[in-house]
Amino acid sequence: MDARREAQLVFERLAQDYDRSDVEFFGPAGERLVDHVGVSPGNAVLDIGCGRGAVLFAAARAVGEGGRVTGIDLSPAMVASVLAEAEQSGLRWVNALVLEAQEPAFPPESFDVITGGMSVHMLADTLGAFRSYHQLLCPGGRLGLSAPVTVVDPAPEVFGLRSIARLCAAHDAGSGIYPYAEAFGGARKARSDLRAAGFVQVKVREEPAFITAGSSESFLRWTWTHGMRALWERVSPRERDGAEDEIKSEAHARSEHGDRIVLRVPVMYVTAARPAP
Ligand SMILES: C[S@@+](CC[C@H](N)C(=O)[O-])C[C@H]1O[C@@H](n2cnc3c(N)ncnc32)[C@H](O)[C@@H]1O
Repeated sequence: MDARREAQLVFERLAQDYDRSDVEFFGPAGERLVDHVGVSPGNAVLDIGCGRGAVLFAAARAVGEGGRVTGIDLSPAMVASVLAEAEQSGLRWVNALVLEAQEPAFPPESFDVITGGMSVHMLADTLGAFRSYHQLLCPGGRLGLSAPVTVVDPAPEVFGLRSIARLCAAHDAGSGIYPYAEAFGGARKARSDLRAAGFVQVKVREEPAFITAGSSESFLRWTWTHGMRALWERVSPRERDGAEDEIKSEAHARSEHGDRIVLRVPVMYVTAARPAP
């Protein structure tokens, strides 16, 4: 199995724990994506790679009951979790399906907005995906994507830490899943591919986001609850203790807040529109 597929499948194994901790990162980034793309009451939204709903539930609040939000994800457990939370919260206008994100099978012009939070950069053919999302949008519809940013200068960092970047390099765990590989081939390629797919008003922004945790131990636990688990599963138990100690002490040393862990990480937000008629 190739590394990309392996890392995609890890989400099914970790769905019960995904982003369930005192650590904040995906939630605020999801809300920011919804702000950037602009979701209005009554819109029909498709959320690609919805996971447990960091973007989807922010979009659901923005569209209100006159709108509809559909999440798709490869992981049945992620989809089940979104459906359960939607039912518990009385969000009758939310649906979620197990569906591959590369070319989702919906009728053309089904959505006003398509979002993809930290997900579309994992696809094997992002230009092909942009073409298919263009067809699924109504004329004038908007696309909003977020992705981690590769940090290489002055030294590689993943999730704000050099110790995690070193672990990725030692275990060959880049493969487009971690910020180690440039999302969408970088900002310039993202712009040209989106234009080639027919999009206009293409904007690629990089903004700082913050990973915040109560302690270095809870930061470490968080690294097991998202895509980084695919990396941990490659690290031998013998090597693990040392790697964990190194990550905890670097997180503590680099925190922007004395009593807690606050790590600044860049996030890429991409927005574009299908031309209006
Ligand atoms: C890093 S998570 C992001 C989840 C959510 N959007 C968020 O911001 O927290 C990536 C999600 O994309 C899903 N995913 C990855 N590849 C996919 C594919 N080819 N088709 C559908 N979903 C995919 C994974 O199962 C996972 O739930």
